[in-house]
Amino acid sequence: MLQNLLVIHQWTGYLVSVVVLVVAFVAFGRAKDAREFEPGLYRAAFALLTLQVVLGLVLYGVGGYWEEVHGPLITYVHPLLALLALGVGQMLLGRARRTQMAVDAHRLAGRGLLTSFILVLAAIGVASWPTG
Ligand code: HEM
Repeated sequence: MLQNLLVIHQWTGYLVSVVVLVVAFVAFGRAKDAREFEPGLYRAAFALLTLQVVLGLVLYGVGGYWEEVHGPLITYVHPLLALLALGVGQMLLGRARRTQMAVDAHRLAGRGLLTSFILVLAAIGVASWPTG
């Protein structure tokens, strides 16, 4: 069970990070084309990221990862970076939705997704670290 959860969380993690990056570029493309602002795709990307975080929390709980034996990178740093990725990205998307100009709104959403992507990469990096 734990091993299955770990493998699922690992591979969905890679998948979600690619989706977030692709959608960030879609947002910048939409800004360039001055498209009308519709947040559906951006919200879907953050919904996937939220699911990934929930899966991580379940894995953390089932595997008892709060015990120090797993090392501080997995016990503290990986979850913290993941939650930060979700929080910062959602905050910037929220700001984009309150922005009047569609071009600026797309650009802000793109920046939010890109920031999330960088933080997700950092989270994956620390989780893959040999001592993590
Ligand atoms: C942005 C969301 C997240 C992504 C993309 C992500 C991705 C990953 C990846 C790729 C791994 C495997 C690393 C490796 O062994 O090479 C991993 C491991 C793990 N993640 Fe996450 N994760 C996320 C959020 C979370 C959260 C929020 C938690 C817990 C609160 C969590 C807990 C764990 C745990 C316990 C492991 C297992 C480490 C091990 O035993 O090797 N993850 N994660």
